[in-house]
Amino acid sequence: MEDCNSRIIAPSLLAADWGQVGAEVKRAEQAGADWLHLDVMDGHFVPNISFGPQFVGAVRPHTGMTLDVHLMLERPDVYFPRFVEAGADRITVHIEVDHDVGATLAAIREAGCGCGLAINPDSDFASVEPYLDQIDLMLVMTVRPGFGGQAFMESETMPKVRAARDWRRKHNLSYHIQVDGGIDGQTVAIAGENGANVMVAGTSLFKAPDMPEAVEQMRLA
Ligand code: DX5
Ligand code: ZN
Repeated sequence: MEDCNSRIIAPSLLAADWGQVGAEVKRAEQAGADWLHLDVMDGHFVPNISFGPQFVGAVRPHTGMTLDVHLMLERPDVYFPRFVEAGADRITVHIEVDHDVGATLAAIREAGCGCGLAINPDSDFASVEPYLDQIDLMLVMTVRPGFGGQAFMESETMPKVRAARDWRRKHNLSYHIQVDGGIDGQTVAIAGENGANVMVAGTSLFKAPDMPEAVEQMRLA
């Protein structure tokens, strides 16, 4: 298991060519990516619909990469077991939805998956504090969720990345700090300096002219 100080590159499948998803997943792995980030959207919690557990199951046999499933769902407590069955290695749920977050995080871990908690740009860091000793990953969204290709929201989100880093140090915890949205060769350095180690990127990786070079640049920036 990678530790929270190692830089992890996680391309978001949202930006891939879904018409040839198997080849795209292999392309990401051969480009040197560590995890594959899967953005699941239900059209209620976010104003977009992406894919469900069956699609994650279709991806699973094509890669040995960690499948990092980001549930942008109104009822992640109801649906997460289907993603466990589909082969998810990590499952992240949002603090903003109306469910028993603590119970859901514990149940995800109980099912053998890494559990993550996500916070949107407009949410206060205080809302996640009660759960930080129960997670393996903290996702600080750096765009409002729903669509790829948006601009990095630095001022609204970097203070939360720093707060997550400081809290982890103060409480001697070891969760990963992940950022997702508008991450490219430049913004990845800002996120890293503030304490993030897991970098989710869709557009800047899958749409890069040279994906291996873009992954390497993101790893070293
Ligand atoms: C938003 C999505 C995007 C996606 C990455 O809900 O989660 O952030 O993963 O999008 P890019 O890297 O294209 O900004
Ligand atoms: Zn995501």
